[in-house]
Amino acid sequence: MLNSVLTMETGDERHNGCPTTNRLRERVADLFGMEDALFLPSGSMCNQIAIAVHTKPGDEIICSRESHIVFAECGGLAKLSGAMVSVIDADRGLFSADDVVRQCRPPSSFAPSSRLVVTEQTSNLGGGAIWPLEQLQSVANTARERGLSVHMDGARVLNASVASGTSVAEYASGHDSAWLAFTKGLGCPVGAVLAGSRDFIREAWHFKRMFGGAMRQTGVLTAMCLYALDHHVERLAEDHTRAKRIETALRGCSLFDRIFPVDTNIVLAELSSAAELSAVELRDFLASKNVKVMAVGTNRIRMITHLDVDDRAVSRLIEGIEAAETVLPSR
Ligand SMILES: Cc1ncc(COP(=O)(O)O)c(C=O)c1O
Repeated sequence: MLNSVLTMETGDERHNGCPTTNRLRERVADLFGMEDALFLPSGSMCNQIAIAVHTKPGDEIICSRESHIVFAECGGLAKLSGAMVSVIDADRGLFSADDVVRQCRPPSSFAPSSRLVVTEQTSNLGGGAIWPLEQLQSVANTARERGLSVHMDGARVLNASVASGTSVAEYASGHDSAWLAFTKGLGCPVGAVLAGSRDFIREAWHFKRMFGGAMRQTGVLTAMCLYALDHHVERLAEDHTRAKRIETALRGCSLFDRIFPVDTNIVLAELSSAAELSAVELRDFLASKNVKVMAVGTNRIRMITHLDVDDRAVSRLIEGIEAAETVLPSR
């Protein structure tokens, strides 16, 4: 990946002058089956720019309560776009067309306008859950029939695609915009690409500059993204196999009440109410064994497999959990 940087051609991306970045934009637009695309430093910026394009202040966004735009983007949709959210409590973050219908406000001179539906493929806090294609398409079509735009946070859409055999373009059909991350399973240091229609991307450029996301010689970054598209996509299946191995090991462990079904590369486990232990305590215990997991709220831990997690690392995690079971207190 690093070698790809040494031989790339670059130029000023702000004037469409970086051939390597332009190649990446075309590749990702094609993957999504959309007209154009835009390179950005992060996934959060992709979401925030899409929201800025699709909404105006006071508009309402319909999405899962557990979506990244709600729990992890610092309220950016309110600050940057003046939008508000109408959240759906959906099992594993996967809501239905009926949920959208229920959440959509009838036109009114008092109420905010329902303007945008945001889906997240895969659902991060749903434990990497894959939206079934039919469910995703019926959500998108229902939203569009009601005049709403539809945006996909596709941070891990390639994981969904590799696991299910469904193409990224099929998942994105019915959506007005979508993006994918290069910094997660694909293993790049920087980057995400947002796709949409030519008109959408023209407006997105405006917010890219406004939010400080316009860069210069981005070829040094996008060469690595192109490398990842060529070499790191199929191998996502290895991450899924390792996540399954973790799931199997955790199912026999008394520390947990619930292990979310593992569809892709995320393992989400809920601590047993009998375990006298918070998620933060377990995270810190595992950190002392050189294993990094994330505490989600008070009683869940999230484990992610990716390019840098090999079989030995998975064994270390499983041994750490077994040690926690014997060493840490239980009621
Ligand atoms: C579903 C989802 N959306 C958006 C993001 C944000 O991406 P970034 O960290 O590149 O801003 C993440 C990051 O983990 C994510 O999991």
